[in-house]
Order: sequence, then C-alpha cells, then structure tokens
Amino acid sequence: MSRWSFVGRTDELNRLLSAVTGTEGRGIFFSGSAGIGKSRLLREGVAALPRDGYAIWSIAASATTAALPFGGLVQVLPAEQPQGLSPAGILRWAVDVLQQQAAGRRIVLAIDDAHLLDPPSAALVHLVARAENAIVIGTLRNGEQIPLPIRALWTDDLVDHAELSPMAPADTAGLLAAILEGPVDAASADRLGRLSAGNPLLLRELVHAAAGSGELTRTYGIWKWTGRFELAPSLTDLIDTRIGQLTPGVRAVVELVAFGEPLGLHLLNQAVDPADVETAEERGLITMVQHDRRLNVRLAHPLYGEVMRRQCPVSRTRRLQARLAELLEQVGKRRRDDLLRVAVWRLDSGTAQDPAMLLDAAGQAFARYDVPLATRLARAALDAGGGFDAAELLATILMFADRPDEAITVLDAVSADIEGDRRLSRWLTVRGMVSYWGLSRESTVEEISARGAALQDSADQARVLAFEAIMRLHRLDTAIALRLGQTVLDRPAASVAARELARSTIAYLQAAQGQLRRSATAINQVQAEAARWRADMPYLQLALELARGTRLALAGDLAGIDAIVADEFADLAGAGDFRLGTGYLAILQAYAARLRGRSDEALRTSLGACAVLATSRVYAGLAQAERAQAAALRGDAAQAAEAMAEADRTQAPGMAVLYPWLEQARGAVLAAGGDSAGAVKQLTSLAERLRTDGFAGHEVHVLHDLVRLDQADAQVGPTCSDGSRRTVAQRLAELSERVDGMLPPLLARHARAAAGGSADELLAVADGFAALELTVYAAEATATALRRLREQRSPAAAAARERLAALLGRCDLVRTPALQAGMPSLSEREWQVARLAAAGVSSRAIAERLFLSARTVENHLQRIYSKLGVTGRAELHAALRAIPGHEDGAPE
Ligand SMILES: Nc1ncnc2c1ncn2[C@@H]1O[C@H](COP(=O)(O)OP(=O)(O)OP(=O)(O)O)[C@@H](O)[C@H]1O
Ligand SMILES: [Mg+2]
Repeated sequence: MSRWSFVGRTDELNRLLSAVTGTEGRGIFFSGSAGIGKSRLLREGVAALPRDGYAIWSIAASATTAALPFGGLVQVLPAEQPQGLSPAGILRWAVDVLQQQAAGRRIVLAIDDAHLLDPPSAALVHLVARAENAIVIGTLRNGEQIPLPIRALWTDDLVDHAELSPMAPADTAGLLAAILEGPVDAASADRLGRLSAGNPLLLRELVHAAAGSGELTRTYGIWKWTGRFELAPSLTDLIDTRIGQLTPGVRAVVELVAFGEPLGLHLLNQAVDPADVETAEERGLITMVQHDRRLNVRLAHPLYGEVMRRQCPVSRTRRLQARLAELLEQVGKRRRDDLLRVAVWRLDSGTAQDPAMLLDAAGQAFARYDVPLATRLARAALDAGGGFDAAELLATILMFADRPDEAITVLDAVSADIEGDRRLSRWLTVRGMVSYWGLSRESTVEEISARGAALQDSADQARVLAFEAIMRLHRLDTAIALRLGQTVLDRPAASVAARELARSTIAYLQAAQGQLRRSATAINQVQAEAARWRADMPYLQLALELARGTRLALAGDLAGIDAIVADEFADLAGAGDFRLGTGYLAILQAYAARLRGRSDEALRTSLGACAVLATSRVYAGLAQAERAQAAALRGDAAQAAEAMAEADRTQAPGMAVLYPWLEQARGAVLAAGGDSAGAVKQLTSLAERLRTDGFAGHEVHVLHDLVRLDQADAQVGPTCSDGSRRTVAQRLAELSERVDGMLPPLLARHARAAAGGSADELLAVADGFAALELTVYAAEATATALRRLREQRSPAAAAARERLAALLGRCDLVRTPALQAGMPSLSEREWQVARLAAAGVSSRAIAERLFLSARTVENHLQRIYSKLGVTGRAELHAALRAIPGHEDGAPE
C-alpha cells in the first residue's frame, strides 16, 4: 500500500510545468500544511519535465543539511570548495559551477522544503533565480520560518507563490481507491476524506490504521470502512507533533470542543477561561464558524478530535460529557438538535435516567436516518424503563439495521403490555414489517390482516390496512393492494402517515401501469406532507423513493434521477447507515449511468449497491439485476450471468413486484451471452406477462428491448378479433397512447423506423434519444441507420458515422447486440494497419513497423476501406471511432 499512483492535482501540475517550460515561465513555490502533498507534487512535476535542453537539479533540504553551510546544496556543488574566498566570492563561484555544468541548457533548481535551507544555500538559490537562464521551483511548509532570500523570491517577483490546498473530495476518493487498489464505497470514501480534511498523508495513515485493525472489508470488490480504527502510533505521533504541548487551561478548551463540537462560543466561554479559548484559536487548534447567527467553535482538524477523545481517560470523558449536558441544559435547549445532543452526552456519561427524553431523542435520530445512534438511544430508553413505546421504536430501527431476529425478540418481550387497540395496531404493524421484509415470511400478510380486522377504532384499522396494502403490492396482489390503499385514503380518521403510506403504494402501482402523471401527483403529495409523517414513520421515505424512483426510471427521466440521488435524503442515509435508502438510490444512479452509456459508473455503482444491500433481502435481487445489466452493456457475458444468478439467489419472494426488472435483465444477459433467440423468447414472454398484469409502464421498455434486438416486426400478444397478431411496433404504437410521457411515442417511433422506416427517420429518432441523454439508444438507432446507408452506398453514411462516433465518444465501453450488428469485422492485422493509418502514419512507415511490404499494406488498406465503406484515409479515423469498444484492443 505504500507507493500508490499519483492522483488528481492536474491544475497544480500544469501550473508547475508551465512555470518551467512556458514562455513566461519564471518558477513557482507551493506552500501548504504538512502532508498535504507538496513534495509529491514537486517530484511528479520534475519527473514530467522534458530532459532535452534542461539541466535539472532536485534538492531536498532537511534539518540535517540546515546546520551546514551549503548543506542544502551538497548534491549540486562539488565537495571541494575553493579556499580563501569571501562569502560573496563563494556565491559567485557556485553560480559559475552550475552554469558550467548546465553547459548552455536551462537551469532548473527544484527545492523541496526550502524553508530548511541553510543561509548560504538560500542566498545562492536567490542568486540563481536572478540568472537569465535559470528557474527555481520548490515547496515550503506552512507555519515554518522562511529564510529571507527565499521569501524575497516572490516579494522581488522572481517566482510565483501559491497555496497547495487540501485535495477535493473526488480526489481523496481516487486516492483511496489507489491506496486500497480497488473502488471504495461512496459513504466510506466521504467519511475518510472528511476526517483527513483532504490531507493525503493523514488519509494514508487513517487507511493503515483502519486496515490494521480489520475495519476495512471488501464485498463484491468494494471496500467499506466500518467507521472505526485503532489509533496507530504513527497516527498519534503525527497529530501529537501538530498539537504540541498544552497548558491545562488550553487543554480543557480543546477537550470540551473535542467532545462538544460544534459548540456555541457563548457556551464554551461559560465553562472555561475565555483567554484560553483565544490562545487555542491563535495556535490553530480550534476555529470559529458562523452558523445561523451563532458563533460555533470547532476543532481546526477533525483528526484532533479523534485523538483527543481517544486519549482522554474514561472517567474524565464522562465528566466532560456530563458537564456539556449540564451547560446546554442550563442555557436551555433552543434548537431542534439540542435535545439530541444532551441525550447523547447523558447517555455517554452514564447520567441518562429519563426514558422519555431518550425515546424522544431516539425518534429524532431515526427521523434523520442515523440508524446506529437511533439504535443506541432506543435501547437505552428501553433499558431505562421506556416500556412498550421504547420497544416499538427499537424493534423498528433494528429492522432497518438488518437485525430482524433481535427486533422480534424485543417485540415479543412486550406482547403482554399490549393494552388497547392503539398499541395493538402499532405492535401488529411493526411486527408485520419485521416479519415480512426482515424475515421474508409472506404469510405475515394474512396474519396481520386477520388480527387487524378485529380492531375497533378506524384510525388503528387504517394503519394496519396501509401496511397490508404495501405488503400486498410487494408480493404482487396488486388488485387487493389498490383496493386497500383506496380504503385508507377514504378514511378521514387515518393518520397522516397511514394515508401517505397508502398513497405511496398506489403511486408505485400507477407508475408500473404507465399512469406516470397521476403517479407524479401522488408522489408530490406524499412529499409535501413529509413534515407531518416523518416523526411517526421516517421509513415511509423508502416507499416514497421506491415509487418515485420507479416512475422516473420508467419515464426515462435521468435528470430527475440525478436530482433525487443528490438530495438531502441520500446524504443522510449514507451518513447514517440507512442501507435500504442508500442502496436503492445507488441502484437508480447505476440505472441512469447505464442509459447514458456510462458503463464504468453503472458497473461501479451497481456493485456498490450490491455491497450495501448484501445484508438485507429487500432490494438485493434488484441490485444484482442492475449489475447484470451493466455488465451486459459492456459485453461482459460472464459477469452478467454471474450477477443474474446472484439476483435469483437473493431475490426475496416478498418483493415479487420487482420481477419486471429482473426478467428484463435476464433478457439482456442472454443477449450478451450470444443467445439472441433465448433473449427474444425471454423478453417476448415477459412482455406477455406484463400485459396480463397491466404493467404497461414496464411493457413499453421490454418491447423496446425487442426492437433493440431487431424484433420490431416480430409478433407479440394474443390473436386479435381480426385473426391477426400485433407486431412489436404496433403494440408499442398502441401503448404510446396509453402510457404517459414523451418517451413512449419516441420508443414507438423507433420501432416503426426500425421495422422499415428510412435511415433519416432513424437518425431523427436518435436525436430524440440524445436529447433525453439516452445515449445508448441514440447510438443504437444511429448504428442501424448507418448500416442502411452503407448498404445503399449513400454518401450520407459519412455524416452518420461522425454522429455515431460522437455518441460513442460520450460512452464508456458499450457492446450491445444492436451496436455490434453489421459492424464491419476486421482481422487482427487489418486492425493494426487501420489504427496506424488513422493516426496518420504513412504506408511506408506502417510497412516498416509491421515488417510488411508496402504493397501488402496498400492491399490491406483497400480491403479496410471497402469493409468500412469509406473512400480513403481521411474518413478512416471517424470510421474506427464509430466501432464500439475499438479503443481497448481489437474486437473480435
Ligand atoms: N496527489 C497525490 N497522489 C498520490 N499520493 C499523494 C498525492 N499527494 C501526496 N501523496 C502522498 O501522500 C504522502 C504525503 O505527501 P507529501 O510527502 O508530498 O506531503 P508534504 O506536503 O510534502 O508533507 P511535508 O510537509 O511533511 O513535507 C506521500 O506518501 C505522498 O506520496
Ligand atoms: Mg514534503
């Protein structure tokens, strides 16, 4: 793990290079904090410099060299220095030596840690920088004393001076992947990146510390961090040297902030001497951040907090936490999250006695989808005597922590306390949920239905009915689900949560049936009521996301998917380990990436979804199906088949409603494996089933998949009254009038054009797809058009080829049957020749390189031109780019 590749820093590297080689180049110094990546940047920059015409010296100043005159430049100057020269004479001699060695080339001095240069070396560097043909570049560590001649470099305008900032989150994620030699789950990357504050050295130490204590695990190739790590000595040393020695007063400030951050300044000042707060700020240990008209105090670096908290003895920790709780209670809890903070401090300090407060706090934590914290608080509430309510909440949270067995135990332990209908209704629904989704017991539906019927109160009944409705939906009793959902909506007594749960159930069904507009209206309504159901039923968000996600996916609304993936819920779910939420959103993100042809992201993200969802069965099958699709898109038949097998193994019978996605993926997997007949059969019977089930929203997509497999003319569905059967294209046309949105007419138009329309019509369809960012479909329609134009020997082929190349340029590796069909197949040798010719290599040079005669090369080229349908070299480049996947080697 020690030598990983260089990541990010493109701008900085370019700046460094142009500072040396640019016409205006005049050197540059980067300043930055310890471990931020200064030395590495300088090293990479120097390695990237051209060798011709430059005499480059790399110098690393250090504490040892700082003690000796010219110690910093020992690597550059001869060991023997002339005796008896004045200091100025020595400097001139040294410059002459450099000039001689450079022998007319440009001098480049690269000085790492220039603040450690001894005075004569610093003076020499300054002198060199003044020379016409010399450039100095280097690094400086923030907070160190800088020798005057070095500082004068930029005050005299001899070099530029820039701050090397922390790495951006995307780059720390890339760095993590490089360190771990594999992709890292987004939430883990995010947390590690934040903890390291974009500092690569700290990031590396953190990863070492986490890996060393087994807190980094790998599932489906994706690394995930548990959030814990051991404080390895290297890490503590690193932090200790930064924190330095603290007086007891300043230590008290830092400790309180470590346990309380973000801590209101007014609160802190009540607990400690304000002078010590000032000192801590001056020493860069804490910083002030303005937040909502309140000044908050934070530690200057997140890792300081880690170290402080861990090094603090238990008894002291508890005292500090109790103190913080007291302070906040004294000034009065003003903010929504104050209660939560007090509860956590009370809990951690062992001073929590009030079950009502703990329960309240647990509810708040759950409403923010912080599953681990909510679990702790609810457990504490139960232990402190919280009774039935605490048990209900704890069991609910345990279900979403993928611990259904514990949840059942908790619930059964309070079954004797079920007094009255209200409690029975709540108990039944939670137990039903755990049993149905957590333990995959389908008979739960009948059980809760029977017991719910005995309830007297209408609101209590409605709650049970709403749960029964969504269970029925998930196991595909759609007619009953719809009826029950309606019943709930019709009951004025139903709680907001019960009503909105029922509405989400109906919205899902509407989306699947192709009533996308009504579905959207319902979803917006559920969303608008969020503030009224969130506290009672935070997990309703999942039903909402599932309905919304399904609607967006079926509508082909990729921008809509982007928006919900970027929404606050996604962040909360990621940070709070609310896996069903994170996992489902990852599936959606992978779907959008796939339709855009971003097959790398699609595969990576769907793998991430599989990893997050591995411990629950609710969406595991769906995640695997999406992975199968991503692999199929890349033409990776083996992985596609493997993922499909996993999908079948993990798909829960209680989630039967997801079958369209799984069966559609199966079609893609068969096609990717070369079994077109099998794929067509699979998709045809799926279309049939969807038609019977009334899932027109799905059906259009499956029919379109048949179009993509060149089946627009094939017959589907039952025999009509006139004795004939419909073709795929006809059925799509029919559905495009019933299914909402602009996509179905476009799909139908594609089918019509594919079934015999003109190449122009296909190109127009492709434009329609491209406008929706459905790049794969756009490329496929263009490829079909190109094939026709080539067959007709039409001159318009060249333009179509350009368009295809441009579309494929937006994709990662994509290899679908429609793109492969009719693609010219070149032999291995022809590929070699074609690539070189397209790159502008002359025939003679090609002949030399490949050890062929010039005549053979010419023959090859003629054959290549005719296979590709081009007239000459000029069109060759575009023609090759229009062949999917040609960049990564010769396709078969
Ligand atoms: N962009 C990067 N890509 C990959 N690794 C990096 C990158 N930047 C820094 N590193 C690695 O992070 C570690 C710290 O970087 P580096 O030594 O360059 O920090 P520094 O700023 O010079 O610190 P110091 O002030 O202690 O000299 C090194 O192991 C380095 O290889
Ligand atoms: Mg360094």
